[in-house]
Amino acid sequence: MLGNFSYSNPTKLYFGEDSLEYLNEELPKYGKNVLLVYGGGSIKKNGVYDKVMEILKSNGKEIFEDPGVMPNPTVEKLYEGCRIAKAVNVDLILAIGGGSVCDYAKAVSVSTYCEEDPWDKYYLRMEDVENKIIPVGCILTMVGTGSEMNGGSVITNHESKLKIGHVFGDNVFPKFSILNPVFTFTIPRYQMIAGFFDIMSHILEQYFSGEDDNTSDYIMEGLLKSLIHSSEIAVNNPGDYEARSNIMWTATWALNTLVSKGKTTDWMVHMIGQSVGAYTDATHGMTLSAISMAYYRYICQYGTAKFKRYAVNVWDVNPVGKSDEEVAKEGLDRMESYMKGLGLVMSIKELGVTEDMLAGITSGSFVLEGGYKVLSYEEIIEILKASMQ
Ligand code: NZQ
Ligand code: ZN
Repeated sequence: MLGNFSYSNPTKLYFGEDSLEYLNEELPKYGKNVLLVYGGGSIKKNGVYDKVMEILKSNGKEIFEDPGVMPNPTVEKLYEGCRIAKAVNVDLILAIGGGSVCDYAKAVSVSTYCEEDPWDKYYLRMEDVENKIIPVGCILTMVGTGSEMNGGSVITNHESKLKIGHVFGDNVFPKFSILNPVFTFTIPRYQMIAGFFDIMSHILEQYFSGEDDNTSDYIMEGLLKSLIHSSEIAVNNPGDYEARSNIMWTATWALNTLVSKGKTTDWMVHMIGQSVGAYTDATHGMTLSAISMAYYRYICQYGTAKFKRYAVNVWDVNPVGKSDEEVAKEGLDRMESYMKGLGLVMSIKELGVTEDMLAGITSGSFVLEGGYKVLSYEEIIEILKASMQ
């Protein structure tokens, strides 16, 4: 049952090969001071930086820079970004990069004028924003997280070994995002496929919850089929515009709040994956792929009907003459071969996890209750052990 809900998504998207031109339409809406936020330099190598600078200058903007946002941005970097943003009295934060840069930009936007420690307020106590929020715009260069059209912002605290995401409300969503598939062509293969699986995981972690006949499930099956089809093309030919653009669009819809409507949502692969990330600093999508098969093979018994539907509707398993369990298992087997075909990391050992970390990773995994089974500490440990194979 869909129940009661409201829906709005305030982010304006500009999509396609010519989408950067629309930055000229957005910039006049904001004041003069623009803080350019980006990562370790890929945008300087692939020319995106120069193109953006030219547009900023022709719009008469005063440009300030906050480079060096690392994958899995840290709380220390957040404090630094807040100091920079405050010192220059920023009117717009322009994030150019992947999920890390976009997430970080949102964190700076809500934290710069926060009078308390933002880590404590937003990430530990999960409180709402009560202070001035600096508007954020994104130019996306890496596909996967959906950060371009949502309120998510994930920050890592290495000292306390916690990686936590706060899902902020509409007021923190990017005001606009520019999605040019061509800008993603230079992503290294490892990152690219990690992003593909991040998308899949976002969809699955919303799909595997509830038993109702829900429109969201049908949308998700379509998104999954498009993703599987296009990712198999893109992995062999990363320059295939059609495949890369389909994947970019799928990623946005996988996590822009639409498909969660009417769903309780699971999110345990992300909770455990983020904890693995806090211990290893591994690439986000790979932390999810390394856990997923162990997680779903365990959880399948508690949601067999849905796993059967997944096998039939997404993986085209023929159910005739088979038990529900057999069909469900065949679907998961096909998912596993697809993942291996892409070249995803299938074991947390490969990400640097050692036996002595398992207890800490388990304690750092927030247990959510929307999936088919509320996991106990012991069950998480078992899933992690199975992910070490
Ligand atoms: O730093 P640079 O030099 O730019 O290189 C980056 C980085 O090393 C590189 N890259 C990005 N675009 C490129 C490129 N290299 C060449 N050409 C390009 N066009 O890719 C590397 C990884 O980038 P990153 O932004 O870290 O990847 P991703 O988009 O996967 O973001 C991961 C972060 O997002 C969080 C994750 O936890 C992680 O911290 N998430 C955010 C979510 C949200 N906001 O809703 C949800 C997700 O589940 C996720 O948790
Ligand atoms: Zn994710």
